[in-house]
Amino acid sequence: MNPLQGKRIVLGVSGSVAAYKAADLASKLTQAGALVDVILSDGAERFVTALSFASLTGRKAHTSLWDSDAHVVHVGLGEGADLLVIAPCTANTLAKLATGQADNLLTLTALAARCPVLVAPAMDGGMFEHPATQANLQTLRQRGVQILGPAQGRMASGLTGLGRMLEPGEILGHVRLASSRNGPLAGKHVVVSAGGTQEPLDPVRYLSNRSSGKQGFALAQAALDLGARVSLVVGATAAPLSTPTGAERTDIETAAQMAEAVLELSRVADVLIMAAAVADFRPRQVQAHKIKKGALPRIELEHTQDILLAVAEQRRRVGRPAVVVGFAAESEKLLENAQDKLERKGLSMIVANDISARDAGFAVDTNRVSLLLPGGVVEHLPLMTKSEVAEAVLARVVGLLAEVAGS
Ligand code: CTP
Repeated sequence: MNPLQGKRIVLGVSGSVAAYKAADLASKLTQAGALVDVILSDGAERFVTALSFASLTGRKAHTSLWDSDAHVVHVGLGEGADLLVIAPCTANTLAKLATGQADNLLTLTALAARCPVLVAPAMDGGMFEHPATQANLQTLRQRGVQILGPAQGRMASGLTGLGRMLEPGEILGHVRLASSRNGPLAGKHVVVSAGGTQEPLDPVRYLSNRSSGKQGFALAQAALDLGARVSLVVGATAAPLSTPTGAERTDIETAAQMAEAVLELSRVADVLIMAAAVADFRPRQVQAHKIKKGALPRIELEHTQDILLAVAEQRRRVGRPAVVVGFAAESEKLLENAQDKLERKGLSMIVANDISARDAGFAVDTNRVSLLLPGGVVEHLPLMTKSEVAEAVLARVVGLLAEVAGS
């Protein structure tokens, strides 16, 4: 489940022109299911209004300490919060946080809060690089505050440099990651492969498949949401997919490169989920020059390495990963073929999907899968989004890890 669901997040907004982007962040957090209490500094109120935030979050947006009906509002806001996010955080607010000043509702709340704190600095010119700001950042980092960004780019003054606030979508990713760290997969390392491989024929052509990569990326996000450390090994995807925040991504092209990356990571991982569509064949010879169209070429193929078989062999030697999940994309005899792969590849579970169905499989956002486990256990899941399939698969992975630990 989305780790932001039902979380209480205090969003502090200080006086930067980037405050308008904080409205988008407040909206995104609310849409993700969080209860967002916004505090605006006096400076922020010059750029944006409390009404905008109250409208977007459906909750009162707080401003002056003295306007509040509850005299301990700062303690109340900070105490019950799961996370405090300050975005944008000006150089001035940053300095106050570093020295523990508490002269407005935002800084008072920060001092009273005992939850994790994320800060997204936004400032102009050389202010970010100034030794005073750098020292303040260092102090905050040592205190466990997570600093997000800033990004390089054009600033309001027209100068280009380091100081732009991260985009709301990126901040949301970090907030989601920070909210998930105590999940049931905390301390576990999950490797996910995604996308298709490309097997070169000559400098311009390759053999590949229709994998979109979406199911693999959804699995990586679901594993992160449960607190795991995630390595994502990515081949070709139909369209560019943004890496889930927190995932360590390795890009590969060929089956051989994927084998190398997956075997290396699996050696120390707890879980491997092979969602990638690995090419089974590759051209025996890669031509150094483009094949001309004159005579029809005869292309001889050879088998690629079966990565899951190699993982099974390595697993017998090193005892890792504890759980290995495969996928079976079938256009006929779904359960029979999947059962065969489960046994042949020594898997803990296989996710079988019928790629002949129009609403499931490669190009679409939905999938209809069956989960097969050793001992003839089969679970048929209804048509779901790829994110829901990923959550269902990861829920079984948590159970499988517990079984391994208990045996
Ligand atoms: N797989 C792999 N290495 C390969 C090919 C596939 O590790 N060279 C993995 C896939 O990532 C998937 C599982 O094996 O998790 C099953 O892949 P699939 O293509 O369905 O099966 P194949 O073993 O290739 O068998 P076939 O093509 O005959 O169906």
